[in-house]
Amino acid sequence: MRLELFLLVIGLVLFARVAAAAADKPVNPCCSFPCQNRGVCFNGKEPGSYTCDCANLPFYGKHCETPYFWTRIALWFKPSPESVHGLLVSENLKWLWDIVNSVKFLHDWAIRRVYLSRAEILDTPPLYETIHDYTTITATTNHSVYARCLPPVPLDCPTPMGVKGKKTLPDVDLLVKTFFVREKFRPDPQGSSVLMTFFAQHFTHMFFKTSYRANPGATWSGHGVDVTSIYGSNVTDEHLLRSFKDGKLKMQVLNNEEFPMYARDARVFMMYPPGIPEDSRFALGHPFFGLLPGLFLYQTIWMREHNRVCDILREEHPDWDDERLFQTGKLITLGETIKIVVEDYVQHLASYYVNVAFKPEVLFGYPFQYSNKIVVEFNHLYHWHPLMPDSFNISGNIVKMKDYMFRSDLVVKHGTAAMTDSLSRQRAGHMSHHNHGAVTLHVLRDTILHGRDLRFQSFNNYRARFNLKPYSSFEELTGETKMAAELERLYGDVDAVEMYVGMLLEKRRKRALFGSTIVDMGAPFSVKGLLANPICSPVYWKPSTFGGERGFDIVRTATLQKLFCNNIKGKCPLVSFRVPEFVEGDVEEATNFNFRPPPRDEL
Ligand code: HEM
Ligand SMILES: *[C@@H]1O[C@H](CO)[C@@H](O)[C@H](O)[C@H]1NC(C)=O
Ligand SMILES: *[C@@H]1O[C@H](CO)[C@@H](O)[C@H](O)[C@H]1NC(C)=O
Ligand SMILES: *[C@@H]1O[C@H](CO)[C@@H](O)[C@H](O)[C@H]1NC(C)=O
Repeated sequence: MRLELFLLVIGLVLFARVAAAAADKPVNPCCSFPCQNRGVCFNGKEPGSYTCDCANLPFYGKHCETPYFWTRIALWFKPSPESVHGLLVSENLKWLWDIVNSVKFLHDWAIRRVYLSRAEILDTPPLYETIHDYTTITATTNHSVYARCLPPVPLDCPTPMGVKGKKTLPDVDLLVKTFFVREKFRPDPQGSSVLMTFFAQHFTHMFFKTSYRANPGATWSGHGVDVTSIYGSNVTDEHLLRSFKDGKLKMQVLNNEEFPMYARDARVFMMYPPGIPEDSRFALGHPFFGLLPGLFLYQTIWMREHNRVCDILREEHPDWDDERLFQTGKLITLGETIKIVVEDYVQHLASYYVNVAFKPEVLFGYPFQYSNKIVVEFNHLYHWHPLMPDSFNISGNIVKMKDYMFRSDLVVKHGTAAMTDSLSRQRAGHMSHHNHGAVTLHVLRDTILHGRDLRFQSFNNYRARFNLKPYSSFEELTGETKMAAELERLYGDVDAVEMYVGMLLEKRRKRALFGSTIVDMGAPFSVKGLLANPICSPVYWKPSTFGGERGFDIVRTATLQKLFCNNIKGKCPLVSFRVPEFVEGDVEEATNFNFRPPPRDEL
């Protein structure tokens, strides 16, 4: 007993000493993120001193807080992101957008503004990567690491978010349980179909490729739209997928339709769990694409499209060899991909009344850099797992998620037409709180933990970085009171909420799949990633790149509808990113959600 008391006293004395020593050392001033408007916080020689580097910014002052004269004037006229969004989706202004859409020079101007204003928010070239806490040339040169948008919270800060919030972040399992587990499927109020969600997954997995085994900041990405999702990640895989005849990819006929080869016949590295039968194992562009039949469907359709394009090119150029037909076909499918992403996919997600068009030529002569680096925060932002339903309805057959995974053979059995039709008719989930299905909960958990490993700055710091007003209270963030109270208990300070958690719990705009942060942070990365592709540059964007006028036209007129209909025999199925029966009034607002905090004894 005495010994214990003695040890306790010693312990207290030691603790007091350590605490006193810590108090002597001034807190790293960069922990409170004093520099505004993209100024760089830079520690001085004296402990506790710092400067904000505002060089080459349109702002000056100790914290880069004061705009120069012309910037002040420009800012005065500049509408907030919230009001720009309001204008673009306003039903009352539809007449105005109809005029803009139909008058070429007005439309070109509008599209150019969208492209340039989004892209200029980003640092190009990137300043930061995921290994160092400061600017390095590695950020540009090393393709095995993601770039990052904001540097990490310095290691020597008093709290994980700098100076705000508690000393430790909330337990991740508690967060998952309190805010994210799906009780009842909540559909996307924009009426997205699951055909859209598989498009998103198939498209983005060509550049979101984390080397999880190394660390969450490492990647094997090519850092842009490179159609590796169709052709394989490297030349070795590409060769395994090619037939080396007429430029085409190798395919096989199953159930009267053309499909990719079985993995045993084209020995591309694929990740299948043990026990998956050989007739469900296919050789695809990404080792992960056997996971879901929706991904297999896109892979199949794109491979057929490549071969269809090669036939057209061979008609135009009977003298071309296999290699030239293949390479030119690949440029065409790349162009089609960007065209469809901009005009079908982004247009759907944005729901703007202005036509979001793919017109690389409007940027010619304007300051725009044709280079891109994938940023790790963009990857996290794109974790859209709540979109996934709990089961799929294939022409009336209900297949539970766990019986759907790794079942590419379902596409062969039901056929691509029935599959496309069913996916177009089924609603995706709302990208929001309490909507992660069982099979994706572990991904969510990892995402939050990886964000901590990467020492992401707070949700509010990211809002500020993207010109959005940081939330001043938890209620303002969630738009209700119950989750807000629970969040406050866990984080202590609204400036300490983590990035991904904030993005999912943030209130939704009316009839919107996403909150403002996902949109206004995602759009710059997306616009930059699409328009900075080499094929959009003035040297590539011309008929000769695409095998002549006919090939260039395929790119310039591509649509999602045509992609499917040109490659499915017989009557074309419904091909749609929005479900047909969707009626605009059928909206479930996030605030109607009945949230019960978990019982106290579990906390
Ligand atoms: C049932 C469907 C899905 C399952 C089971 C699933 C599962 C996974 C898994 C296991 C990972 C790796 C994460 C880790 O190991 O920590 C992952 C990553 C990811 N998922 Fe999903 N996912 C699904 C659907 C989707 C959809 C529809 C999207 C839409 C965009 C999506 C976007 C992503 C992204 C962006 C990553 C990061 C990839 C990377 O960095 O390599 N996922 N998912
Ligand atoms: C890129 O960074 C990784 C991680 O630090 C390192 O292992 C690799 O050697 C670097 N590659 C190059 C080309 O510098
Ligand atoms: C090509 O990529 C696959 C993964 O898709 C990988 O397993 C293989 O080792 C890579 N090959 C080379 C030569 O890099
Ligand atoms: C499944 O889809 C069919 C149409 O293909 C529809 O008639 C049926 O009602 C759907 N079933 C469910 C449970 O949603």
